[in-house]
Amino acid sequence: MKEKIVAKFTEIYGRAPTVVTRAPGRIEFIGNHTDYNGGIVLGASIDRGIAVAVAPRDDAQRRFASDYSGATPKIVAVGGGKPQRQDGDDAWTNYPLGIIDSFPAFNLTPPEGFDYLAVSDLPVGSGLSSSAAIELASALAFLAITDQAPSREEVVKLARHAENNFVGVPCGILDQGVSGFGKKDHLVFIDCRALTFDTVPLPPDTHFWVFNTHTKHALADGLYEARHTECMDAAKTLGVELLVDGTIEALEAARPKLNESVYRRAKHVIEEIERVRQTVEALKRGDLAEVGKLITASHRSSQHLFENSTPELDFLVDQLTGILDVYGARLTGGGFGGAVMAMTNGRFDEKAADLVADAYRQRFQERPEVLHMQTGDGASVL
Ligand code: GLA
Repeated sequence: MKEKIVAKFTEIYGRAPTVVTRAPGRIEFIGNHTDYNGGIVLGASIDRGIAVAVAPRDDAQRRFASDYSGATPKIVAVGGGKPQRQDGDDAWTNYPLGIIDSFPAFNLTPPEGFDYLAVSDLPVGSGLSSSAAIELASALAFLAITDQAPSREEVVKLARHAENNFVGVPCGILDQGVSGFGKKDHLVFIDCRALTFDTVPLPPDTHFWVFNTHTKHALADGLYEARHTECMDAAKTLGVELLVDGTIEALEAARPKLNESVYRRAKHVIEEIERVRQTVEALKRGDLAEVGKLITASHRSSQHLFENSTPELDFLVDQLTGILDVYGARLTGGGFGGAVMAMTNGRFDEKAADLVADAYRQRFQERPEVLHMQTGDGASVL
């Protein structure tokens, strides 16, 4: 990836970059919508991601290009100083601009002028978090050209701050935490309230398959925000700051005061946090059958209680969980479209995946993109 981005950068800007970074996408393994509720979550960084190349300029101009929009990237030029939000085709620059905008909140000095290129081998809009990947890769590049080196925790928090405050999505720390702390053949375990990041080894012979439906609910962003609000409302009624401090007993006691959907969202979150805990235990014992059951139970809870699944995602989970070599399957990421991930043993192969994809096509006319994902390392300077 480094040679490719250096060559492309040189072609566009007529000189070589001074720094190249890369950050991976992620699979949400289990812990659906637990992160912003202060809960725990497990994710895996994958071997696909986004590379960023940057070279400082002598003036204050910030010039951005990416390979998102075809072979001849358009250069988006913005002035120095406090970044302004971009719209339309240029909206993708809000990710690196958001990083710059967040620097002062972390006592960091923002970069002035530079030339910038992002290159991706991550399918966009598939629930694999291309947004966290570009944020992390941009943050490491801007830190390198300004000679600043905050801790990895700070970089991850900075990236989330950019997404919350500049891009405007009230996400938790999962995506940025996994992209920042990922390790090949490991899962990342995040305690989202304590903001601690650990890795857990993946048992041998576990495989991830991702079925990307390329569907996205028209209101996906608004629905994510609405779920966030419902969870905060539930916490308030339970008298706790975040749902991580809620219990099923307290929830049942408060049920008469909650509207039905707020009750269901909270039930999902409280039980999902417990499922993550049980998954960590089952992984320690090497009990993959149990891990698989918990993964599928997580999906069913998203489907029926959190109601962020879709008929397309449910269909894939139904198909996959009927196959012997599949331990479990669930939607991965925010939901309302996107992708399903399956954890399988090594006997599940392309042929088995094709059968699932064919059945999906018969039902929905489109074929899902099938990716046999490998885990990969977290964000770094290349
Ligand atoms: C998206 C958000 C994450 C997390 C998941 C759902 O990926 O960016 O912070 O909330 O949805 O678990």
